[in-house]
This record gives sequence, C-alpha cells and structure tokens, in this order.
Amino acid sequence: MCGIVGFTGSQSAAPILLDGLKKLEYRGYDSAGIAVLGENGIHMEKAIGMIKNLDAKIQGGAAMSGASGIGHTRWATHGEPTDVNAHPHMSNDDKFAIVHNGIIENYAALREELKEKGFQFKSETDTEVIVHLLDLYYEGDLKKAVMKTVARLEGAYALGILCAEEQGRIIATRHAAPLILGVGVGENYFASDVTALVAHTKNVVYLEDGEIADITPENITLYNELGKEVEVKVTRIAWDIAAAEKGGYEHFMLKEIMEQPHALKSTIEPRIKDGEIVLDDFNLTDEDLKKINKVMITACGSAFYAGSVGKYVIEELCRIPVEADLASELRYRNPLVDEHTLLVVVSQSGETADTIAAMKECKARGARILAIVNVVGSTIAKLADDVVYTWAGPEIAVATTKGYTTQVAVMHMLAVYMARRLGRLTDEENKALVEDILQFPSLIQRAIDLNPNIQTLSEKYHGYNNLFFIGRNLDYAACMEGSLKLKEISYLHSEAYGAGELKHGTIALIEKGRPVIALACYERLFDKMMSNIKEVKARGAQVLAVVLEGNRQIFAEADDVIFVPRTNPLFNSLPEIVPLQLFAYYVAKANGCDIDKPKNLAKSVTVE
Ligand code: M6R
Repeated sequence: MCGIVGFTGSQSAAPILLDGLKKLEYRGYDSAGIAVLGENGIHMEKAIGMIKNLDAKIQGGAAMSGASGIGHTRWATHGEPTDVNAHPHMSNDDKFAIVHNGIIENYAALREELKEKGFQFKSETDTEVIVHLLDLYYEGDLKKAVMKTVARLEGAYALGILCAEEQGRIIATRHAAPLILGVGVGENYFASDVTALVAHTKNVVYLEDGEIADITPENITLYNELGKEVEVKVTRIAWDIAAAEKGGYEHFMLKEIMEQPHALKSTIEPRIKDGEIVLDDFNLTDEDLKKINKVMITACGSAFYAGSVGKYVIEELCRIPVEADLASELRYRNPLVDEHTLLVVVSQSGETADTIAAMKECKARGARILAIVNVVGSTIAKLADDVVYTWAGPEIAVATTKGYTTQVAVMHMLAVYMARRLGRLTDEENKALVEDILQFPSLIQRAIDLNPNIQTLSEKYHGYNNLFFIGRNLDYAACMEGSLKLKEISYLHSEAYGAGELKHGTIALIEKGRPVIALACYERLFDKMMSNIKEVKARGAQVLAVVLEGNRQIFAEADDVIFVPRTNPLFNSLPEIVPLQLFAYYVAKANGCDIDKPKNLAKSVTVE
C-alpha cells in the first residue's frame, strides 16, 4: 500500500527521498512522486509505474534542488494510476504539497463543499481535499491549519506536509495509518516504516494516533490532537541496514526463507526461562485466564493460516473451544464475544485494515485482546491489551515466510504457556514440549537443507496450471498456506482442500496428470490420507507427497516425495511449510515472475 517519506536537513532532499521510496517499494505501488521546497517554491515531479521512471525524470534527484521535501508511492484506490492522481498533491496557489496514506471516507462531501468555495480539483483522489482544506484554513500558522484540517477528516491518514512559506519545515501526522519519525543529527525524517529510515538513523519516534510532528533540521516538536505539546520518546531500533537489503540473495523472499532459523531463535529463546515459557507481555492473571471460556483467533491471509494452526494446538492442549475467523468475515457478523473471550489477533505488519476493524469490534464487546505482531509500534500492537512480538526482523518480500513461521512458533508457545497455567500439563509434559520448541531453529534449518531437492522438483512441476493441495487437521492448515504461497508469487491456480472434502465435489476436477500435493505429516490421520491419495491416483493425478522422514509406505502411491524432519506431532506443520515456501519460490522463478513484488499485491493491506 502507499508509502510516505519526508526529509529536512542541509543536504539535497530529492536523492534521499528517492532512496527512501525505493526502500518502500516492497509495500506495493503503481506510481510515485516527490515535492521539494527550494528557493523558488515547491518543485513537484511524479511518474506512473516503477520508481525508476521517476528516478529518470528527476535524474536521480539532481534535477530538484531544496533541502526539505516529501515523497510518496501510491497504490491506487480512488482513481486510476495516472500522473495526475499520483501524490504529492498541491494546492491551487502552489503553497502546499501533501502526501497521504489511507482513505478519507468523507471526501465526497468535502469535495463538494470545497468546490463551492472555488477550489479547483485536478485529480480523482480522496486525498486532494486535504490540500485544499489546508489552504482554506492557513492564516500564517501551519500547525493550526493542520489541526483544523485533520479535524474535518473521517477515515485513516498518515500525512506529510510541505508549505512554500515555511523553509526547512515539514509536518507529519497520522490517524489509523502508520508513520514513524527518524531522528538524525542536523536532519530529521519521517516514513511509513523503518526500512526507509534505517540507512540514516536508528533513532525513531513512533507517532501516536492523532499526534502532529512539527519537524525542522534541528528539532522535532510533538503535539497531541488538542495542540498541547507532548514528550518526544525516542526508541532505538534493533536492526541495521543489512536487514533491509538483499545481502547477496537474488530475492528478498529467498533471503527471508533462509533467515527463518535466526528469526525463530530470536522469537523463542528469550521467552524460555528455567524450562518454562514466559510471555512477559501477556499480563493476564491466572484467575483471569481461568475465566476465559473461548479463544477466538482472527487475521487475514497467511496470518490467518498461522492462526488456523494455533486453533488445533490451543484446543488440543488447553481444552478450551477455539474459533479461527477471517478478520474480513468476523468484522461483519454478530459474533458471540464477551469479557470471557480471549481474542488472539495475528498480523505481520500490524496495519491490516480488516484485522484492525475486527479487533475493534470484539474489543467493544469486551474481549481481552492479545496481538501477535511483527512490527513494533504498529496500530494493532497499540490497540491490543497485550502484545507478543514475533522478532522476525523486517520482512520485505510481499509473500510472507519468516513472518508466518514465527507466528506459528508463537502460537505453539502460547498453547503450551496457557495449558501450563491452566494446570493441564505435568512437569514432564511441559519439559518435553518446551524442549521441542527450543529445537525449532535447528528443525527449520534441516527443512531448509532440502533446498536442492525442492529446486529439482519444481522443474518438474512449474509447467502445470491448476494444482491441488490436500491434507487433514494440521496438514490442512499447512495446505492453505502452501497453496497461497504458490498462487501469490507464481500466478498458478491452486486450491487447498481438506482431504476429506474431495469426494464432496472437488474430485470431479481430478484427471490424468493433475498435480496434487498431498501433505501427510499428521501421522494420526496418515491412513486416511493414504486413502485420499489412492482416490486421486485412481483418477490419474500426479501426486507429490510431503511426509515425515522415515515414512516408507508413501512410496506405494506417490510419484514424488518430500521428507520433512520430525518433531512433536503437534508441531509438524512448522517444518512442513518450509519445502512448500521453497517450492513456490522456484516455481515462480522458473516462470519468470516478479517474486518479491507480485502483481496486484501489497505488503501491508491498509485498505478494506
Ligand atoms: O500484515 P499481515 O500479517 O496482517 O498481513 C495479512 C495478509 O495480508 C498477508 O499474510 C498476505 O496474505 C501475504 N501476502 C501472504 O504471503
């Protein structure tokens, strides 16, 4: 989704803004633009398509002079991707330029009102109303004009503002959309996320909802929505520029697959003390926990599939009913949620619009909210009662890999942690489960070591269209993630089915040569899976089976086999997903797809 950058200092702003926009490319966009304040006022340039188009137009920034400015990558919502609809947008008198991420819900009414007042609109965007409102309210005090403007807006916004009358000053503000400030020496920044800042500074300020940042090269002053000055809290981010770069890998996705052992280690090890799982940030008392009579898990996309793994494991270990719901469905139904419900919200970005809406809906009904989030200071992290961070580091590829596996690991830890506190695990059982969890990094490394075999297998399968993933129980949860990975980056059609569902309709599609990827690591149901594999084989399917190492029975039916390292049967879906990530990667590569930035997709889906 849209990305924002801002800079003020003594260097030329345009190359810095351009570089920041390149770091935000992974979020997904279809046009880009920059506005810089120079001696002769605001100079704005925009271009549709890739940032390299803008780069060429402004000669890497050399064609724009000025030491403060704002930049934007746009993911079209209101109006097609065109130069005119691209951001920044400028006021009719060229006094203001703004960039915006989010959606202004009442823009139509504001547009009519502003038109009646004589403002001329150039674009079809919801954003343009904001720049005209600023113009309307500006009487020499920029902060006041910003406060009056945002008071008129309904919806979500992160805004960067430049005013031709205010050399060296940039303004940033946000409501329900991400925006982070970067604190430098003699220069300051803002951006949608830290990947655009980390090359310049590790000192950041997470803007709270409604706060307005008044930024000059030497100073950052923060105001709350009432205009009262508030403290600037600087946080030091833990990772450096290497984390946001490819480090020799051809794609971020491959790099992030390979980083999984490290990401899991960072997520797990600090939370195991004296053989017990300790979730410091989950502040529910034992008494409160005992009152929880239902766990609901909600999320979108892969985060939902991680939640689906959690559903099986929490239910099994805690013996509490667990529902897993797509956030985009949950938010529009009338769920039975009250103060005895624990809502577990899962999100890599922490900014997914439907997940936020579902969370707010359940919070209003009294649920206790635990968020499992990767991005520190994100909206979901801030709205939740408790947060368990997945310390995966920055995830740049649109297709999540380490984000997903760290979510699954936290789900497993949460299940064991809750079961222990509910008195459902003996010391022996707890010890065994914790030891298995501590092995996750090496387990995943062993799954990654399958890499050369998977690459070879993908050569056999990349030419097919219409693939099916089948599995039962935890294998079914992994099927959904494996199928999503394949379709989102390779554009091949694939479907995930509970294997028991095949005969209720889908088997009609099985014919000679149809690839079926059968996940059969959940050994309690292995015989059932073998029956399903036989059913599809009898109809001509070509079966690629994913089973646990040592399983010889599979050779009787499967055409190809991937052997996955063993762990506790409850945790097997974790190593099982790794070959499917690699399979999707190599199939997409063989098909010449843009792996890190698949068409039509955005990294963080901040619109409904
Ligand atoms: O940032 P989130 O985890 O909330 O994102 C949820 C989904 O949009 C995300 O998992 C999406 O499905 C990915 N592209 C999957 O790889």
